[in-house]
Amino acid sequence: MALITTEISVAADFLKSGKLVAIPTETVYGLAGNALNEKAVAAIFEAKKRPFFDPLILHISSIDEVNKYASNFPENAQTACKSFWPGPLTVVLPKAESVSFLCTGGLSSVALRVPNHPLTLALLQSLEFPLAAPSANPFGKTSPTSAQHVEAMLGDRIDCILDGGSCAVGLESSIVSFLDTIPQLLRYGGLEKQKIEEAIGELGIKINNNSNPTAPGQLDKHYAPNAKLTLVTEINSVTIEANPNAFFIYFQQQESQPIASTALSKMGNTEEAAANLFASLHFADAQKPSSIIAELAPELGLGPAINDRLRRAAF
Ligand code: TXA
Ligand code: MG
Repeated sequence: MALITTEISVAADFLKSGKLVAIPTETVYGLAGNALNEKAVAAIFEAKKRPFFDPLILHISSIDEVNKYASNFPENAQTACKSFWPGPLTVVLPKAESVSFLCTGGLSSVALRVPNHPLTLALLQSLEFPLAAPSANPFGKTSPTSAQHVEAMLGDRIDCILDGGSCAVGLESSIVSFLDTIPQLLRYGGLEKQKIEEAIGELGIKINNNSNPTAPGQLDKHYAPNAKLTLVTEINSVTIEANPNAFFIYFQQQESQPIASTALSKMGNTEEAAANLFASLHFADAQKPSSIIAELAPELGLGPAINDRLRRAAF
């Protein structure tokens, strides 16, 4: 069992001694360690059983820290960070020497983000090092959006969980690479693509997958619940009759639903659905159904990010 605390100083002491702490962010919980301590970084990979080629995001307390860890911070990247930090945007920039290749999976670029959660921001401000933090789930499993999810999945492998309640956004950050002249979206996430484009102009799209080795991580299979997940455009009476022992995840709440079901959103709002997605997958799995059947989201707002997670979870 990990120690679950709301005290920043307790979490800070563990991190200063090279231990791992699960931290709340507005997107998902992260599994954090001192990014400048190679033993701590190696322990993150070990706890998650994550392959070393999958690079980590460095969490920093403010935009003023970027130049310590990136060797170039182009103007469009600065505009994006000023517009959306703290928040669900990660930027990929050329790395500075201070960042180890262990953190970057051997790449000469680094991913940076200022998370928007009061406990974690205060924690970062109290530390003299950045926090390397992937999502706090075992590699390939559904991401955690509460301290309880982390405890259930990793409680026996980490020392401490900083409990900051449920994650407000509920999907990992959107990742934009500024290594090319035209910035590239590497991962659909909690910040809508359109909002980023309103700030910095059109984005290219280079979504990470198995066949895209220049943008590692983000394997085709990811976020998976234990039960088999099947995706449909609509759950209807035929679906329900054909799958009597399944658990159903509706996109929008219906007037009448089977008992073994939940809905991501009351009114069909993609932000609300995003915030509930991972918790609904964890909940569905906990019922130990024969399978889980989920509806895809409309391709609006955060719909593409929700569907990206659902497709990888069902892969
Ligand atoms: O919202 C989030 O981003 C959460 C919270 C904890 O901050 N973190 C998160 O980390 O989702 P993780 O490790 O699950 O996903 C990080 C992904 C990698 O799998 C990879 O796809 C991408 O970020 N990444 C990291 N560094 C990169 C780099 N230098 N170049 C390209 N992609 C990179
Ligand atoms: Mg992850």
